[in-house]
Order: sequence, then structure tokens, then C-alpha cells
Amino acid sequence: MPSTTMIGFPLLRYQGSWLLKTWVTGVLSVQRRFAPRPDDVLLASLPKCGTTWLKSLAFSTMARAAYPPSAADHPLLRLNPHQCVPFLDDLFSSGEATKAVEALPSPRLMNTHMHHSLLPPSVTAGKCKIVYVCRDPKDGLVSMWYFAKSIMPAGSTYTFSDMFEHACHGETPNGPIWDNILSYWRASRAHPDKVLFLRYEEMLLDPGHAVTNLARFLGVPFTAAEEAEGTSADIVELCSFKAMKVLPANNTGTFTMLGFPHRSLFRKGVAGDWVDHMTPEMARRFDGIVHEKLRGSGLTFAAP
Ligand code: A3P
Repeated sequence: MPSTTMIGFPLLRYQGSWLLKTWVTGVLSVQRRFAPRPDDVLLASLPKCGTTWLKSLAFSTMARAAYPPSAADHPLLRLNPHQCVPFLDDLFSSGEATKAVEALPSPRLMNTHMHHSLLPPSVTAGKCKIVYVCRDPKDGLVSMWYFAKSIMPAGSTYTFSDMFEHACHGETPNGPIWDNILSYWRASRAHPDKVLFLRYEEMLLDPGHAVTNLARFLGVPFTAAEEAEGTSADIVELCSFKAMKVLPANNTGTFTMLGFPHRSLFRKGVAGDWVDHMTPEMARRFDGIVHEKLRGSGLTFAAP
């Protein structure tokens, strides 16, 4: 397998995707062993593009009968969202964890960073629903930089510019970024009843609409009574960046085999932070690459 190293992490190229070496076994195992159920919901994204937020929103939407979002004992008040929604690529690396995912009661809610084209054929054929969240790739890169720094070996000389060069060549975890996004964009155009395509920036602008849309897509729309009670607004509030960032569960502990601190999942939670990290030339170059790769797809980010 072709390989490279980004921010100190070995990446291997597998079926057109750059995978963190740590998760290659998991991805192969998902491909071979993951058996979707019709009522499964798979949350998909590139790392650092809103996964944690989407997990919180989908979990609290789907579990609201058992756990009303305003309940004082809501799981999201005492657990990190990644503890509520299993990450397949990581967990399928271990046989025991795989069995635990397989034993979960329906409806299961899980997540992956795999390209759509890497998912098992039963999933891509539409056996279960998928919700994908994408983000301006420039902000995703900035977020990745800070996230990786949280576990970067002391004394590393790797810089943001180094990471930027890797990204321009498609070499980021689960990249190339444009291929990952396009794979879900195309799937959502072909099967809108099975794949919902969300944008982080639009969710920030109108989280209430995002939750309503999500609930409808998942087949659990808010009832008139729930609307009157403000259930969707409660979900938005429970899952808001401001509320989640201060919770003890999100400030202690680690997640995944790589041991990322939970607190590194909540940094700024805004759109457009790239302006403070990229020169106009870097932004133009990256926008140009992305624009070219998405050409003809009907999907656009900022015009270069
Ligand atoms: P920033 O680093 O730009 O702040 P992921 O969950 O895919 O790892 O993405 C992490 C990014 O989503 C981080 O972006 C993080 O701050 C942001 N984020 C986490 N929780 C959020 C929330 N509840 N609302 C909005 N953004 C959130």
C-alpha cells in the first residue's frame, strides 16, 4: 500500500482513500463483517467536520422518547457524544468491540469516516440510512491541525504549512477530502431517501431547521405536541457548542485507540476560522483545487 506520514501519523492509501494506519484493520473489518439492519442509522463525515455535533443531535433526536432533551439525567449530560454513538472504524479493529456493536439493540446509531465507496455493498445499496455532514474544507483543515496537536509528540517540527501541503495532495485522514465529500454528495443525489447531506455552516445558521430536517429524514418527525413543548429547541440547546463545551464529561477522558482527549473535540465551533490561519494565497490555492475537483457535481464551496 502507498504510504505517507501526516502530523506524525502514518497514512496508508487503500482503495483510493488515505487511511490512518491505526484504522486500516477496522475499515477492512467493517467491509467484511458489518451487517446493516434496515433501521440502522450511519452518521458519516470527514474527521473535524461536525461529527461530534451530529452525533449529539442524532442521538438526542432518536432517543427522545426514553430521554427527553430537557431531562436532568440525559445521557449527553454525563457522557461524551462519542460514548453514546459507536465509531465503527475504530471499534471494528477489535473482535470484542465488534461483537458489542453487533449486539446493540435496534435502532442502532453509529458513525464512520470511510468514503461512501468503501462501505459494504449492502450499505451502499441502501439497506440503512446515512446522514453525512460536510464543512468548508479550509475550516476542517484548521480544526484538524489543533486536534492533531493535542496528541502531537513533544518537539515535533511539523507545521501547519506542512499539513497544508499534504492536504493539497489529498493526503489527510480519510482524504482526499474532495473524494470523501463527493462520494456522499453523489449518493445523496441518487438516493435522497437514504442519504441526507448536511452542511456544518448551514447547521450553525439555523440549527432548529437542521434538527427538524434530521428528525423527518430519520422517520421520527416532531409531533405537533412536541413542537408545542419546544422539543426540537431543547435538543438544539442540549447539543449547542456552548452547553457541551463546559460539561465535565467533555473535559475529561479520551476516545479512540489514538487517545484523543475529549476536550479537543470542542475548540471554537464557528465557520470561517481559516482566515486567521491561512494566507489569502493558501486559501485561493486550496479553494481552487477543491473547486476543480467538484466541478460538474453541482456542489460548491467558496468560489476561488
Ligand atoms: P473547530 O476546531 O473549528 O472549533 P468533529 O466532531 O468532526 O471532530 O469536529 C470538531 C469540530 O466541530 C470542532 O471545530 C469543534 O469545535 C466543532 N464542534 C464540536 N461540537 C460542536 C457543537 N456542539 N456545535 C458546533 N460545533 C461543534
